Amino acid sequence: MSVNWALPFNTKIVPKSNKVVDINTYKEIHSTSLRDYKGFWASVASELDWFKPWEKVLDDSNPPFYKWFVGGEINASYLAVDRHAKSWRKNKVAIIWEGEPVDENGNPKEVRKLTYYDLYTEVNRVAYILRNKYGLKKGDAVAIYLPMIPELPIFMLALARIGVVFTVVFSGFSADALATRIDDAQAKVLITADGGWRRGKIVPLKDIADKALEKVSTVKDVIVVRRTGQKVNMVEGRDKYLDDVLREVPQGVYVEPERIKSEDPLYILYTSGTTGKPKGIVHDTGGYLTLLHATMKWVFDVRDDDIYWCTADIGWVTGHSYIVFGPLMEGVTEIMYEGALDYPKPDRWVSIIERYGVTIFYTSPTAIRSFMKYGDEWVKAHKTDTIRIIHSVGEPINPEAFEWLWKLIGRGEVPFGSTWWMTETGGIMISHLPGLYLIPLKPGTNGMPLPGIEADVVDDNGNPTKPEERGYLVIKNPWPGMPLTIHRDPERYIKIYWSKFPGMFYAGDYAVKDSDGYFWVLGRADEVIKVAGHRLGTYELESAIIEHPAVAEAAVVGVPDPVKGEVPVAFVILKQGVSPSKNLMDDILKTVRDKVGPIATLSSIYFVSKLPKTRSGKIMRRVVKAVITNQPVGDITTLENEASVEEVKKAYEEFK
Ligand code: WT7
Repeated sequence: MSVNWALPFNTKIVPKSNKVVDINTYKEIHSTSLRDYKGFWASVASELDWFKPWEKVLDDSNPPFYKWFVGGEINASYLAVDRHAKSWRKNKVAIIWEGEPVDENGNPKEVRKLTYYDLYTEVNRVAYILRNKYGLKKGDAVAIYLPMIPELPIFMLALARIGVVFTVVFSGFSADALATRIDDAQAKVLITADGGWRRGKIVPLKDIADKALEKVSTVKDVIVVRRTGQKVNMVEGRDKYLDDVLREVPQGVYVEPERIKSEDPLYILYTSGTTGKPKGIVHDTGGYLTLLHATMKWVFDVRDDDIYWCTADIGWVTGHSYIVFGPLMEGVTEIMYEGALDYPKPDRWVSIIERYGVTIFYTSPTAIRSFMKYGDEWVKAHKTDTIRIIHSVGEPINPEAFEWLWKLIGRGEVPFGSTWWMTETGGIMISHLPGLYLIPLKPGTNGMPLPGIEADVVDDNGNPTKPEERGYLVIKNPWPGMPLTIHRDPERYIKIYWSKFPGMFYAGDYAVKDSDGYFWVLGRADEVIKVAGHRLGTYELESAIIEHPAVAEAAVVGVPDPVKGEVPVAFVILKQGVSPSKNLMDDILKTVRDKVGPIATLSSIYFVSKLPKTRSGKIMRRVVKAVITNQPVGDITTLENEASVEEVKKAYEEFK
């Protein structure tokens, strides 16, 4: 367990909201919804606009491969743009985007405001070229490697429109990481940009993409969005600039949205773990959109006069669900920004809140802790009293960070929750629900499972734990938004999520329920590291380190960090005859950055001659972690080499 600050404590806060109910009332509402959870979700799904209604709410004949709303036909792009473009929302602003570069007064140099009609026009134009020029059709896959610019949601919606599955690769990933994902998804087309702005520098996306393309054979065409404008290498016959291609599109084109089967995939998103290559989580269409519709209403309480801002990057699931599909489907006006929240000045984020009058703010504990570090003055210099709802996501929120943000921009009165979910769940599962029934808040808690979601905390035998007792977080019923499978590896889907506790979805998190029944997710129960809320698999990091010619073996573990929650550190055994040095250390660090990407920066490397291993030779990261975080090492009966424990400890203490 990585976090020890999120221990239950009982300060109840009753925010100013007319929807506050006591916990018992909520429990009743919740258990009523579970009595017929299929019927419950069917009533939510009926609020969406289906081309054809479903015949069966849930096909559970082949668990865990559940299918929601079977027989129904729907289209995500139609829901997100056509409906609004044909309604009074036609001229309502959908996306307010600001780029990173600022003028001499610190104001953004570029702001783009796209109305729902603009978005509709652009999505149709892009869908037209994807279908007519590139010949993409249902069954094909496309990879997207773009910075945070409006073209990113436009491409996602255009692909969804023609039923082409896409996989978005976060722009902080390296060429190797991109190549692995393109290859696994068998993407035919890659969509990228010349570059993107981040902290005053250009991230050379096209150069990185070119390196990735040397390693894969599936990509026939590359579409390059012009963003930063520097010269990039364009391969004749393969690479084209988007603006050049769009010039050929006739005015006013309309591409009819495909009638997508509810259970057909919408996208694949990769997430990494402790073993094996990244897993391609496949999300369906109808179930996924149903969960997003519900959570946009219940969790964010979105209304037409809101200015909604989710600060995530679209490269992660938070951005897929709560920047692209969720908010646009609900017709909200939302903020999208390029760059960082604290660059060029620590108050960029509050200046955005002030500039556009943000009302709903969805961010991460890491971001909050980094804002805290700069001091209150940066925040107090801005007007933030438009805020009416705050939520955080990505990792447990420590009560200090909660209280700081709640008092400073939440005026100590607005609902503020910590929404628990993960790439696999598709959308929020456990949360406070200011748009439905809100239970009193406790700083740090996740609240209660949503109506229709049967989450629980269980012990090693799968039995519910007693209050305050640590156990594993599970979901006991299928839910709309659940994965269809792991792309091209259904066996692995069963093994990872559905085998630890038969019949239950195993999330991989430790959690407790407190004596009131509130859920507190404590952190990962496996060796996955959460750096700034992003999931980093130890496997990808270790494989990168081992590629260095001087390295024999490596173990990567997460250690607590006051801002990022956790940071990865590596224990490395060098090959015979190689001696440790500062240069070597820098060289290994560089290898990891190159192979995985800048998000994978190791915070330190410790050289050791042995690592704790089982008798069968598996490195016991759990033991390494316990030793360096001063936790009890637990059961070490399978440990083969006890002296290694001392060595790890010594190495860590000496260089700490
Ligand atoms: C893991 C999933 C889902 C969006 C971002 C992360 C942790 C997520 C919370 C929260 C405590 C949380 C869990 C989970 N997590 N939200 N509110 N409180 N922990 O998605 O990269 O798939 O990571 O993030 O450990 O398993 P992800």
